[in-house]
Amino acid sequence: RVEDGVRVFELEAREGVADLGASAPTPTLGLNGDHLGPTLRAARGERVRVDVTNALDETTTLHWHGMHLPPAMDGGPHQMVEPGETWSPTWTIDQPAATLWYHPHLHGQTASQVYRGLAGMFLLDDPAAADGPAGDLPHEYGVDDVPLILQDKSFRPDGRLEDSPSFLSPVGTLGDTVLVNGTPGPYLDVTTQRVRLRLLNGSDSRVYDVGLADGSSVQLVGTDGGLLPAPRTVESVRLSPGDRAEVVVTMTPGQRAVLRSFPPDLGVNPLFERFSGGDDTFDLLELRAADELAPSPAVPDALGTDPADVLDEGDAVRTRTFQLSGRSINGRTMDMARVDEVVTTGETEVWEVTGLDDTPHSFHVHDVQFRVLDVAGRPPGPDLAGWQDTVYVEPGHVTRLLVRFDAAEGTTDPTTPYMFHCHLLTHEDQGMMGQLVVV
Ligand code: C2O
Ligand code: CU
Ligand code: CU
Repeated sequence: RVEDGVRVFELEAREGVADLGASAPTPTLGLNGDHLGPTLRAARGERVRVDVTNALDETTTLHWHGMHLPPAMDGGPHQMVEPGETWSPTWTIDQPAATLWYHPHLHGQTASQVYRGLAGMFLLDDPAAADGPAGDLPHEYGVDDVPLILQDKSFRPDGRLEDSPSFLSPVGTLGDTVLVNGTPGPYLDVTTQRVRLRLLNGSDSRVYDVGLADGSSVQLVGTDGGLLPAPRTVESVRLSPGDRAEVVVTMTPGQRAVLRSFPPDLGVNPLFERFSGGDDTFDLLELRAADELAPSPAVPDALGTDPADVLDEGDAVRTRTFQLSGRSINGRTMDMARVDEVVTTGETEVWEVTGLDDTPHSFHVHDVQFRVLDVAGRPPGPDLAGWQDTVYVEPGHVTRLLVRFDAAEGTTDPTTPYMFHCHLLTHEDQGMMGQLVVV
Protein backbone atom coordinates (compact mmCIF):
# COMPACT_ATOMS: atom_id res chain seq x y z
CA ARG A 1 0.00 0.00 0.00
CA VAL A 2 1.05 3.60 -0.47
CA GLU A 3 0.76 5.87 2.57
CA ASP A 4 1.67 9.56 2.32
CA GLY A 5 3.83 8.87 -0.71
CA VAL A 6 5.64 5.95 0.95
CA ARG A 7 5.26 2.42 -0.36
CA VAL A 8 4.71 0.28 2.73
CA PHE A 9 5.28 -3.47 2.95
CA GLU A 10 4.47 -5.70 5.88
CA LEU A 11 6.47 -8.80 6.62
CA GLU A 12 5.90 -11.08 9.57
CA ALA A 13 8.44 -13.78 10.36
CA ARG A 14 6.67 -16.82 11.74
CA GLU A 15 6.89 -20.54 12.23
CA GLY A 16 5.15 -22.85 9.81
CA VAL A 17 4.85 -26.33 8.44
CA ALA A 18 5.27 -27.04 4.74
CA ASP A 19 5.19 -29.95 2.34
CA LEU A 20 8.68 -29.83 0.87
CA GLY A 21 8.57 -33.29 -0.64
CA ALA A 22 9.96 -35.06 2.45
CA SER A 23 8.40 -38.18 3.90
CA ALA A 24 6.40 -36.00 6.31
CA PRO A 25 5.53 -32.29 6.63
CA THR A 26 8.55 -30.16 7.50
CA PRO A 27 8.67 -27.56 10.29
CA THR A 28 9.77 -24.36 8.57
CA LEU A 29 9.98 -20.61 8.93
CA GLY A 30 8.34 -18.12 6.59
CA LEU A 31 7.40 -14.50 6.10
CA ASN A 32 3.63 -13.95 5.89
CA GLY A 33 3.30 -17.67 5.21
CA ASP A 34 4.69 -21.06 6.15
CA HIS A 35 7.84 -21.03 4.05
CA LEU A 36 9.86 -18.31 2.27
CA GLY A 37 8.40 -14.83 1.81
CA PRO A 38 6.50 -12.73 -0.73
CA THR A 39 8.25 -10.95 -3.59
CA LEU A 40 8.55 -7.25 -2.80
CA ARG A 41 8.70 -4.83 -5.69
CA ALA A 42 9.45 -1.11 -5.85
CA ALA A 43 10.56 1.43 -8.42
CA ARG A 44 13.58 3.67 -8.63
CA GLY A 45 12.90 6.98 -6.89
CA GLU A 46 10.21 5.55 -4.62
CA ARG A 47 10.32 5.93 -0.88
CA VAL A 48 9.69 2.56 0.78
CA ARG A 49 9.14 1.30 4.31
CA VAL A 50 9.02 -2.30 5.44
CA ASP A 51 7.31 -3.13 8.72
CA VAL A 52 9.14 -6.25 9.83
CA THR A 53 7.41 -8.06 12.69
CA ASN A 54 9.11 -10.89 14.50
CA ALA A 55 6.51 -13.50 15.50
CA LEU A 56 9.19 -16.11 16.18
CA ASP A 57 10.46 -17.02 19.62
CA GLU A 58 14.02 -16.18 18.60
CA THR A 59 15.73 -12.91 17.66
CA THR A 60 16.11 -12.18 13.97
CA THR A 61 17.00 -9.39 11.53
CA LEU A 62 16.07 -8.75 7.91
CA HIS A 63 18.70 -7.59 5.43
CA TRP A 64 18.04 -6.19 1.94
CA HIS A 65 20.78 -7.91 -0.03
CA GLY A 66 22.09 -5.76 -2.90
CA MET A 67 20.26 -2.63 -1.78
CA HIS A 68 21.95 0.77 -1.67
CA LEU A 69 20.68 2.36 1.55
CA PRO A 70 21.82 3.93 4.84
CA PRO A 71 23.49 1.43 7.19
CA ALA A 72 20.89 1.76 9.95
CA MET A 73 18.25 0.50 7.45
CA ASP A 74 20.40 -2.36 6.16
CA GLY A 75 19.13 -5.07 8.50
CA GLY A 76 22.56 -6.38 9.38
CA PRO A 77 23.50 -8.01 12.67
CA HIS A 78 23.12 -4.73 14.61
CA GLN A 79 19.48 -4.13 13.64
CA MET A 80 18.06 -6.92 15.77
CA VAL A 81 14.33 -7.49 15.95
CA GLU A 82 13.37 -9.19 19.20
CA PRO A 83 10.39 -11.57 19.43
CA GLY A 84 7.15 -9.58 19.37
CA GLU A 85 8.84 -6.43 18.07
CA THR A 86 8.36 -4.57 14.78
CA TRP A 87 11.26 -2.83 13.01
CA SER A 88 10.41 -0.29 10.30
CA PRO A 89 13.34 0.73 8.12
CA THR A 90 12.65 3.33 5.44
CA TRP A 91 14.73 4.47 2.48
CA THR A 92 14.54 5.77 -1.08
CA ILE A 93 15.24 3.36 -3.95
CA ASP A 94 18.24 4.87 -5.71
CA GLN A 95 19.70 2.28 -8.10
CA PRO A 96 18.92 0.59 -11.43
CA ALA A 97 16.36 -2.15 -11.99
CA ALA A 98 17.64 -5.37 -10.40
CA THR A 99 16.81 -8.67 -8.78
CA LEU A 100 17.63 -8.32 -5.09
CA TRP A 101 16.59 -10.41 -2.13
CA TYR A 102 16.08 -10.32 1.60
CA HIS A 103 17.10 -12.67 4.40
CA PRO A 104 17.97 -12.59 8.11
CA HIS A 105 21.47 -11.59 9.19
CA LEU A 106 21.59 -12.38 12.91
CA HIS A 107 25.20 -13.09 13.72
CA GLY A 108 25.67 -16.81 14.31
CA GLN A 109 22.13 -17.71 13.22
CA THR A 110 21.97 -16.61 9.59
CA ALA A 111 22.54 -20.06 8.09
CA SER A 112 19.92 -21.69 10.27
CA GLN A 113 17.24 -19.04 9.74
CA VAL A 114 17.72 -18.88 5.98
CA TYR A 115 17.84 -22.68 5.70
CA ARG A 116 14.55 -23.00 7.56
CA GLY A 117 12.89 -20.63 5.09
CA LEU A 118 13.38 -16.95 5.85
CA ALA A 119 14.14 -15.48 2.42
CA GLY A 120 12.37 -13.72 -0.42
CA MET A 121 12.94 -11.68 -3.56
CA PHE A 122 13.02 -7.88 -3.74
CA LEU A 123 12.65 -6.71 -7.35
CA LEU A 124 13.51 -3.18 -8.38
CA ASP A 125 12.10 -1.50 -11.46
CA ASP A 126 13.38 1.53 -13.30
CA PRO A 127 10.48 3.18 -15.15
CA ALA A 128 12.75 5.45 -17.23
CA ALA A 129 14.85 2.49 -18.44
CA ALA A 130 11.71 0.46 -19.13
CA ASP A 131 10.67 3.12 -21.65
CA GLY A 132 13.84 2.26 -23.60
CA PRO A 133 14.96 -0.98 -25.24
CA ALA A 134 15.10 -2.85 -21.90
CA GLY A 135 11.30 -2.60 -21.83
CA ASP A 136 11.26 -5.33 -24.51
CA LEU A 137 12.51 -7.92 -22.05
CA PRO A 138 9.78 -10.27 -20.84
CA HIS A 139 8.31 -8.52 -17.80
CA GLU A 140 4.94 -9.99 -16.91
CA TYR A 141 5.52 -11.31 -13.40
CA GLY A 142 4.62 -14.97 -13.01
CA VAL A 143 3.87 -15.33 -16.73
CA ASP A 144 7.07 -14.67 -18.69
CA ASP A 145 9.12 -13.14 -15.86
CA VAL A 146 9.58 -15.70 -13.14
CA PRO A 147 11.65 -15.61 -9.95
CA LEU A 148 13.40 -18.87 -9.06
CA ILE A 149 14.85 -19.25 -5.57
CA LEU A 150 17.27 -22.19 -5.53
CA GLN A 151 17.86 -23.82 -2.15
CA ASP A 152 19.24 -27.24 -1.35
CA LYS A 153 17.86 -29.20 1.59
CA SER A 154 18.29 -32.52 3.31
CA PHE A 155 15.56 -34.12 5.35
CA ARG A 156 15.53 -36.49 8.29
CA PRO A 157 13.26 -39.54 8.13
CA ASP A 158 10.65 -37.67 10.20
CA GLY A 159 10.50 -34.84 7.63
CA ARG A 160 12.50 -32.36 9.69
CA LEU A 161 15.33 -30.46 8.06
CA GLU A 162 18.76 -31.97 8.44
CA ASP A 163 21.08 -29.10 9.24
CA SER A 164 24.17 -30.73 10.66
CA PRO A 165 26.91 -30.44 8.05
CA SER A 166 28.83 -33.56 7.10
CA PHE A 167 32.10 -33.63 9.04
CA LEU A 168 33.88 -34.03 5.69
CA SER A 169 32.37 -30.86 4.32
CA PRO A 170 34.66 -27.83 4.24
CA VAL A 171 31.61 -25.73 3.55
CA GLY A 172 28.29 -25.90 5.45
CA THR A 173 25.16 -27.89 4.82
CA LEU A 174 24.98 -29.38 1.33
CA GLY A 175 21.48 -30.71 0.75
CA ASP A 176 20.74 -33.64 -1.49
CA THR A 177 17.62 -32.11 -3.02
CA VAL A 178 17.18 -28.69 -4.56
CA LEU A 179 13.87 -26.92 -4.12
CA VAL A 180 12.81 -24.11 -6.43
CA ASN A 181 10.65 -21.55 -4.63
CA GLY A 182 10.23 -24.21 -1.95
CA THR A 183 8.77 -26.67 -4.45
CA PRO A 184 10.18 -30.14 -5.06
CA GLY A 185 10.24 -31.36 -8.69
CA PRO A 186 8.74 -28.17 -10.12
CA TYR A 187 7.58 -27.38 -13.65
CA LEU A 188 6.59 -24.13 -15.32
CA ASP A 189 3.90 -23.78 -17.97
CA VAL A 190 5.32 -21.48 -20.62
CA THR A 191 2.84 -19.57 -22.77
CA THR A 192 5.17 -17.11 -24.49
CA GLN A 193 8.01 -17.58 -26.92
CA ARG A 194 10.54 -16.20 -24.44
CA VAL A 195 10.64 -16.47 -20.71
CA ARG A 196 12.88 -14.54 -18.33
CA LEU A 197 14.09 -16.47 -15.31
CA ARG A 198 15.39 -14.53 -12.33
CA LEU A 199 17.68 -16.96 -10.57
CA LEU A 200 18.70 -16.56 -6.95
CA ASN A 201 21.09 -18.86 -5.16
CA GLY A 202 19.61 -18.74 -1.67
CA SER A 203 21.56 -21.77 -0.49
CA ASP A 204 23.90 -21.99 2.46
CA SER A 205 26.94 -23.35 0.64
CA ARG A 206 26.06 -24.87 -2.68
CA VAL A 207 27.37 -23.37 -5.92
CA TYR A 208 25.24 -23.97 -9.04
CA ASP A 209 26.07 -23.86 -12.71
CA VAL A 210 22.70 -23.40 -14.36
CA GLY A 211 21.87 -24.07 -18.00
CA LEU A 212 19.60 -26.18 -20.18
CA ALA A 213 20.01 -29.94 -19.95
CA ASP A 214 20.23 -30.36 -23.73
CA GLY A 215 23.17 -27.97 -23.90
CA SER A 216 21.39 -25.28 -25.89
CA SER A 217 22.27 -21.75 -24.91
CA VAL A 218 20.37 -19.08 -23.05
CA GLN A 219 20.75 -15.32 -23.07
CA LEU A 220 22.21 -13.88 -19.92
CA VAL A 221 20.68 -10.42 -19.45
CA GLY A 222 21.33 -9.55 -15.82
CA THR A 223 23.55 -10.16 -12.82
CA ASP A 224 23.40 -9.15 -9.13
CA GLY A 225 23.08 -5.40 -9.58
CA GLY A 226 20.96 -5.19 -12.71
CA LEU A 227 20.95 -5.61 -16.46
CA LEU A 228 24.11 -6.29 -18.44
CA PRO A 229 25.15 -3.68 -21.01
CA ALA A 230 24.20 -6.22 -23.69
CA PRO A 231 22.86 -9.77 -23.62
CA ARG A 232 25.47 -12.55 -23.65
CA THR A 233 24.84 -15.97 -25.11
CA VAL A 234 25.97 -18.57 -22.58
CA GLU A 235 25.58 -22.29 -22.03
CA SER A 236 25.39 -21.91 -18.28
CA VAL A 237 25.85 -19.40 -15.51
CA ARG A 238 27.65 -20.01 -12.25
CA LEU A 239 25.85 -18.86 -9.12
CA SER A 240 27.63 -18.87 -5.79
CA PRO A 241 25.61 -18.40 -2.59
CA GLY A 242 23.90 -15.00 -2.61
CA ASP A 243 24.29 -14.52 -6.39
CA ARG A 244 21.54 -13.65 -8.84
CA ALA A 245 21.34 -13.91 -12.63
CA GLU A 246 18.62 -13.17 -15.14
CA VAL A 247 18.43 -15.37 -18.21
CA VAL A 248 16.04 -15.41 -21.17
CA VAL A 249 15.11 -18.82 -22.56
CA THR A 250 13.57 -19.09 -26.03
CA MET A 251 11.07 -21.93 -26.46
CA THR A 252 9.34 -23.56 -29.41
CA PRO A 253 5.67 -24.64 -29.27
CA GLY A 254 5.19 -27.88 -27.37
CA GLN A 255 8.84 -28.03 -26.31
CA ARG A 256 9.93 -29.56 -23.02
CA ALA A 257 13.17 -28.20 -21.64
CA VAL A 258 14.90 -28.93 -18.37
CA LEU A 259 16.79 -26.32 -16.41
CA ARG A 260 19.73 -28.14 -14.88
CA SER A 261 22.57 -27.39 -12.52
CA PHE A 262 25.76 -28.94 -13.88
CA PRO A 263 28.80 -29.73 -11.71
CA PRO A 264 30.21 -26.27 -10.96
CA ASP A 265 33.85 -25.50 -11.58
CA LEU A 266 34.98 -24.64 -8.06
CA GLY A 267 38.70 -24.58 -8.70
CA VAL A 268 39.43 -26.56 -5.55
CA ASN A 269 41.64 -29.64 -5.33
CA PRO A 270 39.83 -32.26 -7.46
CA LEU A 271 40.21 -34.84 -4.68
CA PHE A 272 38.09 -32.71 -2.39
CA GLU A 273 35.81 -31.15 -4.95
CA ARG A 274 32.97 -33.55 -4.21
CA PHE A 275 32.88 -32.59 -0.53
CA SER A 276 32.15 -29.03 -1.68
CA GLY A 277 29.42 -30.10 -4.11
CA GLY A 278 31.64 -29.87 -7.19
CA ASP A 279 30.50 -33.22 -8.62
CA ASP A 280 26.76 -32.75 -8.24
CA THR A 281 24.10 -32.44 -10.94
CA PHE A 282 20.49 -31.41 -10.23
CA ASP A 283 17.50 -31.01 -12.46
CA LEU A 284 15.90 -27.81 -11.23
CA LEU A 285 12.79 -27.08 -13.27
CA GLU A 286 10.94 -28.43 -16.27
CA LEU A 287 9.76 -25.82 -18.77
CA ARG A 288 6.63 -26.98 -20.59
CA ALA A 289 5.76 -24.88 -23.60
CA ALA A 290 2.15 -24.69 -24.72
CA ASP A 291 1.23 -25.84 -28.24
CA GLU A 292 0.82 -22.21 -29.18
CA LEU A 293 3.09 -19.52 -27.82
CA ALA A 294 2.40 -15.79 -27.77
CA PRO A 295 5.17 -14.01 -29.67
CA SER A 296 7.82 -12.17 -27.61
CA PRO A 297 10.00 -9.29 -28.87
CA ALA A 298 13.63 -10.15 -29.61
CA VAL A 299 15.99 -9.62 -26.68
CA PRO A 300 17.21 -6.02 -27.10
CA ASP A 301 20.95 -5.47 -27.73
CA ALA A 302 21.25 -2.56 -25.31
CA LEU A 303 20.14 -3.13 -21.74
CA GLY A 304 21.91 -1.57 -18.74
CA THR A 305 25.00 0.47 -17.98
CA ASP A 306 28.47 -0.99 -18.36
CA PRO A 307 30.38 -0.95 -15.04
CA ALA A 308 33.50 -0.26 -17.11
CA ASP A 309 31.94 3.03 -18.26
CA VAL A 310 31.21 4.08 -14.68
CA LEU A 311 34.17 2.85 -12.64
CA ASP A 312 37.69 3.44 -13.96
CA GLU A 313 40.71 1.73 -12.45
CA GLY A 314 42.72 4.90 -13.13
CA ASP A 315 40.56 6.69 -10.54
CA ALA A 316 41.41 4.25 -7.74
CA VAL A 317 42.96 6.01 -4.76
CA ARG A 318 43.96 2.91 -2.79
CA THR A 319 44.07 -0.85 -2.74
CA ARG A 320 42.69 -2.96 0.09
CA THR A 321 43.39 -6.65 0.45
CA PHE A 322 41.00 -9.23 1.85
CA GLN A 323 42.50 -12.61 2.56
CA LEU A 324 39.96 -15.33 3.27
CA SER A 325 41.14 -18.32 5.22
CA GLY A 326 39.72 -20.69 7.80
CA ARG A 327 36.87 -18.66 9.28
CA SER A 328 38.58 -15.30 9.14
CA ILE A 329 39.26 -12.36 6.86
CA ASN A 330 42.76 -10.88 7.12
CA GLY A 331 43.32 -13.09 10.16
CA ARG A 332 40.38 -11.69 12.11
CA THR A 333 37.02 -13.22 12.89
CA MET A 334 33.89 -11.11 13.18
CA ASP A 335 33.70 -8.79 16.17
CA MET A 336 30.52 -6.73 16.45
CA ALA A 337 32.46 -4.08 18.41
CA ARG A 338 35.31 -3.63 15.91
CA VAL A 339 35.30 -1.56 12.73
CA ASP A 340 37.62 -3.21 10.20
CA GLU A 341 37.57 -0.74 7.34
CA VAL A 342 36.79 2.95 6.99
CA VAL A 343 35.81 3.96 3.47
CA THR A 344 35.25 7.46 2.12
CA THR A 345 32.16 8.05 0.06
CA GLY A 346 32.84 8.80 -3.60
CA GLU A 347 36.36 7.31 -3.61
CA THR A 348 37.16 4.52 -6.05
CA GLU A 349 39.19 1.66 -4.59
CA VAL A 350 40.66 -1.62 -5.78
CA TRP A 351 39.79 -4.55 -3.53
CA GLU A 352 41.94 -7.64 -3.90
CA VAL A 353 40.16 -10.69 -2.60
CA THR A 354 42.07 -13.95 -2.21
CA GLY A 355 41.00 -17.34 -0.93
CA LEU A 356 44.05 -18.70 0.87
CA ASP A 357 42.58 -22.08 1.79
CA ASP A 358 41.45 -24.71 -0.69
CA THR A 359 37.79 -23.96 0.01
CA PRO A 360 35.02 -22.25 -1.94
CA HIS A 361 34.05 -18.78 -0.72
CA SER A 362 31.58 -16.19 -1.96
CA PHE A 363 32.56 -12.59 -1.20
CA HIS A 364 29.72 -10.16 -0.61
CA VAL A 365 29.74 -6.46 0.21
CA HIS A 366 26.74 -4.56 1.53
CA ASP A 367 25.42 -1.29 0.07
CA VAL A 368 27.39 -1.33 -3.19
CA GLN A 369 27.46 -2.85 -6.64
CA PHE A 370 31.03 -3.27 -7.82
CA ARG A 371 32.90 -4.04 -11.01
CA VAL A 372 35.03 -7.18 -11.34
CA LEU A 373 38.37 -6.17 -12.88
CA ASP A 374 39.92 -9.58 -13.24
CA VAL A 375 40.06 -13.06 -11.78
CA ALA A 376 43.51 -14.66 -11.60
CA GLY A 377 44.63 -11.96 -14.05
CA ARG A 378 41.99 -12.86 -16.63
CA PRO A 379 39.18 -10.49 -17.61
CA PRO A 380 35.81 -11.46 -16.14
CA GLY A 381 33.61 -13.90 -18.06
CA PRO A 382 30.01 -13.06 -19.03
CA ASP A 383 28.56 -13.87 -15.62
CA LEU A 384 30.91 -11.38 -13.94
CA ALA A 385 30.77 -8.68 -16.62
CA GLY A 386 27.90 -6.75 -15.07
CA TRP A 387 27.28 -5.17 -11.69
CA GLN A 388 28.00 -7.51 -8.79
CA ASP A 389 27.55 -7.51 -5.05
CA THR A 390 28.58 -11.12 -4.56
CA VAL A 391 31.39 -12.94 -6.31
CA TYR A 392 32.76 -16.47 -6.21
CA VAL A 393 36.32 -16.54 -4.86
CA GLU A 394 38.44 -19.05 -6.72
CA PRO A 395 40.80 -20.66 -4.21
CA GLY A 396 44.41 -19.58 -4.58
CA HIS A 397 43.67 -16.75 -7.01
CA VAL A 398 43.23 -13.02 -6.68
CA THR A 399 39.86 -11.58 -7.64
CA ARG A 400 40.18 -7.84 -8.14
CA LEU A 401 37.17 -5.58 -7.66
CA LEU A 402 36.64 -1.91 -8.31
CA VAL A 403 34.47 -0.51 -5.52
CA ARG A 404 32.97 2.90 -4.88
CA PHE A 405 30.49 3.69 -2.10
CA ASP A 406 28.20 6.56 -3.01
CA ALA A 407 26.29 7.70 0.04
CA ALA A 408 23.62 10.21 -0.86
CA GLU A 409 24.30 13.71 0.49
CA GLY A 410 23.81 13.79 4.24
CA THR A 411 23.26 10.04 4.68
CA THR A 412 26.68 8.87 5.85
CA ASP A 413 26.60 7.34 9.31
CA PRO A 414 30.11 6.80 10.70
CA THR A 415 28.84 4.89 13.73
CA THR A 416 26.77 2.20 12.02
CA PRO A 417 28.68 -0.39 10.01
CA TYR A 418 27.90 -2.30 6.86
CA MET A 419 29.08 -5.89 6.55
CA PHE A 420 31.40 -7.61 4.11
CA HIS A 421 31.62 -11.35 4.38
CA CYS A 422 31.67 -14.78 2.86
CA HIS A 423 28.14 -15.65 1.75
CA LEU A 424 28.62 -19.31 2.50
CA LEU A 425 26.36 -18.76 5.47
CA THR A 426 28.05 -21.26 7.73
CA HIS A 427 31.39 -19.54 7.13
CA GLU A 428 29.76 -16.17 7.81
CA ASP A 429 28.23 -17.41 11.07
CA GLN A 430 31.58 -18.84 12.12
CA GLY A 431 33.18 -15.42 11.78
CA MET A 432 34.21 -14.86 8.16
CA MET A 433 32.78 -11.35 8.23
CA GLY A 434 34.01 -7.83 8.86
CA GLN A 435 32.52 -4.38 9.37
CA LEU A 436 33.05 -1.22 7.41
CA VAL A 437 31.85 2.30 7.88
CA VAL A 438 31.39 4.85 5.11
CA VAL A 439 32.34 8.40 6.05
CU1 C2O B 1 23.00 -11.64 1.67
CU2 C2O B 1 25.35 -9.78 4.32
O1 C2O B 1 24.13 -10.72 3.03
CU1 CU C 1 23.99 -8.21 1.72
CU1 CU D 1 33.57 -18.97 2.83
